[in-house]
Amino acid sequence: MSVKLIENPTEGDILYVNSLTRDSFTGVEVPPESHLRNAVKSGRLFLSIPQDSQPVGYAIVTERYDAPWLFSMAVDPYARKCGYGQGLLKAVTNDAYDRGHRMVGLTVKQDNIGAQIMYLKAGFIVELVMYNYYIDADGLLMRKRWK
Ligand SMILES: CC(C)(COP(=O)(O)OP(=O)(O)OC[C@H]1O[C@@H](n2cnc3c(N)ncnc32)[C@H](O)[C@@H]1OP(=O)(O)O)[C@@H](O)C(=O)NCCC(=O)NCCS
Repeated sequence: MSVKLIENPTEGDILYVNSLTRDSFTGVEVPPESHLRNAVKSGRLFLSIPQDSQPVGYAIVTERYDAPWLFSMAVDPYARKCGYGQGLLKAVTNDAYDRGHRMVGLTVKQDNIGAQIMYLKAGFIVELVMYNYYIDADGLLMRKRWK
């Protein structure tokens, strides 16, 4: 399982991220294309690329409150539940740690139980319930911290 940090994202990378985002999220969770493009360009893009073929998932890390922030992540529907999400999270948290950070944050919809289980398994904990954070659901602020 190979996860790559993409130093200079191409137009093809951005198209892939945009298309998977639109397939994976609905409503207010889908950022405008310009917002997503900006996050990819100014943040850190990780792609899960098994056997040097096509990517099967992405994670984008930006900065928030002076700490790495998981802006968005998704795995292609056909490749889910094979460990790619866990692999991407590991790369994201290792990269943050190696850059000297001791905290990574994210928000997740309260009804997105699958993602929450994945984050809990990766060592994130729920620090705050944000009522009405999304137009149709509450949000959970989750963080992974190192001592
Ligand atoms: C959430 C998402 C990224 C998970 O990716 P994935 O590659 O399927 O995740 P993994 O196979 O690495 O799963 C890791 C663990 O999370 C849990 N998990 C993942 N999806 C789950 C689901 N739908 N239901 C229950 N548990 C789930 C499992 O416990 C799994 O561990 P296991 O395989 O040892 O049982 C993927 O389902 C997705 O792209 N969803 C749509 C976008 C999304 O919700 N992104 C997160 C927004 S905050």
